[in-house]
Amino acid sequence: MAIPLLEMRRVKKRFGALDALRGVDLELYAGDVLALLGDNGAGKSTLMKILAGAIAPDEGEILFKGEPVTYHNPGGARALGIEMVYQDLALCDSLDAAHNLFLGREPTVPAGGPFVDRPRMYREARRALDDLHIVVRSLTTPIRFLSGGQRQSIAIGRAVTFRPKVLILDEPTAALAVREVEKVLTLVQTLRDQGVSIVFITHRLQDVFRACDRIAILYEGTLRAQRRVEHTSLEEIVDIMMGIA
Ligand SMILES: Nc1ncnc2c1ncn2[C@@H]1O[C@H](COP(=O)(O)OP(=O)(O)OP(=O)(O)O)[C@@H](O)[C@H]1O
Ligand SMILES: [Mg+2]
Repeated sequence: MAIPLLEMRRVKKRFGALDALRGVDLELYAGDVLALLGDNGAGKSTLMKILAGAIAPDEGEILFKGEPVTYHNPGGARALGIEMVYQDLALCDSLDAAHNLFLGREPTVPAGGPFVDRPRMYREARRALDDLHIVVRSLTTPIRFLSGGQRQSIAIGRAVTFRPKVLILDEPTAALAVREVEKVLTLVQTLRDQGVSIVFITHRLQDVFRACDRIAILYEGTLRAQRRVEHTSLEEIVDIMMGIA
């Protein structure tokens, strides 16, 4: 068995009196698309925010290629190649797609200087989106006018500009129309083909069986089961998620 790219071991997190994570072990393999499932409040976002360096665990460890690593902020996770697209996207609605892709890192003239190099920024934004087959006709329209699927794609595109090895997507299809869901699933396949390992948090089980390789199920802060998709069924997954199996 290959060494996992990433391993979380006995990870615990409390919020006041609430045990959000009660000692979770999770593995992610290179090139895997891992579906992270569980009911509302099961601890999915919390576990992944810990992996992304956005919150600190109370206990437990993270191993990268078998070696223990510690980091205390998203920058530390980013240095290892771990990026997360958050459930609430964290985009700037009043800015356009290009600005959102490069927020805080806009190319400037002179290099490092005070003025944004707009032609270069729009050129690079177009190229970044094209590489992912993301269609956004106008890069200069404030993104609040774009569809939910386009906004999701831009949030993913932004994460991809950091060239991640591991990309965590927290419910990327939750608010989308059917056709837009298809586009996001295609984007996941594109990224996987480019060698990115993906954690895909979702409630849409039908997508899991199409887009994912493995499934991990959280139940009230514990890891209940892991399965390869070909070794399980929708019925079994539902039973485990509801605490029946
Ligand atoms: N910052 C916080 N402060 C207090 N409680 C929190 C905080 N973040 C999460 N929780 C609680 O921890 C538990 C796990 O939350 P989490 O957001 O990880 O669940 P989830 O599996 O992502 O749920 P959902 O499917 O609704 O997104 C919940 O009971 C939640 O209310
Ligand atoms: Mg969540």
